Amino acid sequence: MAKISRRGFFKTAVALGAMPLMASTDTVAETLKFIHVTDSHMDLADKESVDAMKLMVEFVNSEYKDLDFVLFGGDNFNNNVVGNADALEFKKIIDTLHCSAYVVRGNKESHPNPNDAIKLDEFKELFMSSDKLHVSGKDWRLDIKGYQILGLDSCIEDANNGVYTQETIAFAQKSLQRGKPTLMLNHHPYTNYWNSKDAKDIHKYVLNNTEEVQAKLFSYDNLILTLSGHKHIDSVKELKGTKTIVTRGFVRPLDLDMYPMRYVEIQESKISEKLIYTS
Ligand SMILES: [Fe+2]
Repeated sequence: MAKISRRGFFKTAVALGAMPLMASTDTVAETLKFIHVTDSHMDLADKESVDAMKLMVEFVNSEYKDLDFVLFGGDNFNNNVVGNADALEFKKIIDTLHCSAYVVRGNKESHPNPNDAIKLDEFKELFMSSDKLHVSGKDWRLDIKGYQILGLDSCIEDANNGVYTQETIAFAQKSLQRGKPTLMLNHHPYTNYWNSKDAKDIHKYVLNNTEEVQAKLFSYDNLILTLSGHKHIDSVKELKGTKTIVTRGFVRPLDLDMYPMRYVEIQESKISEKLIYTS
């Protein structure tokens, strides 16, 4: 009989729906419902992109009334104006959601155009100051309904490519060691899932130390789901037993007058997800 590791058993059993997700040794995690929006690229010079964010809020507030939260995966606003006007407008809009919004940076937020003033400290002040978040350096953790959500910053100042620093990896490891079913939100995807042959393209889009991160974080059996963006191309795969999602960019596809995002529901043992569009 093939030998199966404890981790393999846990992840396989969860994937097959044969085992409930355990928040700790004796607590079963409750149902979690949320939406992942990434790469909205809200730009004050493009009214349509601002209206799209307002439409997103209107849509979520009317069609998804029982969400636990909405996650924003980076490149949320284009960070290309003098001062912080676009960051403030983005915050003002997402604050009108009926539920909490949690945000990580993308390369747009870490690599501003020359005129802009938004840097990490101001981002933290604007988007990471909720008392529901435990903040460690550039990263945050949210404990909710027996789960933990890790908002990890994979950005490099003044660069478009991404990496997890040793501090981020250590924070994620420490969090995973708490044993709760864990979701990780960040900007840069973990694999070259679009099969690029171009080294520059791969360097820009795939998390640069993905092998180290896969070895150090994906080895935890309680890492059940990751959510990324950056490439704007949708993907749902499994990586070392973890469901690994990259959500299509919220920027309007050329063929549609609707904006994409992803609905995720985790119920007992099952993670279900679907790409949805603003109507
Ligand atoms: Fe990006």
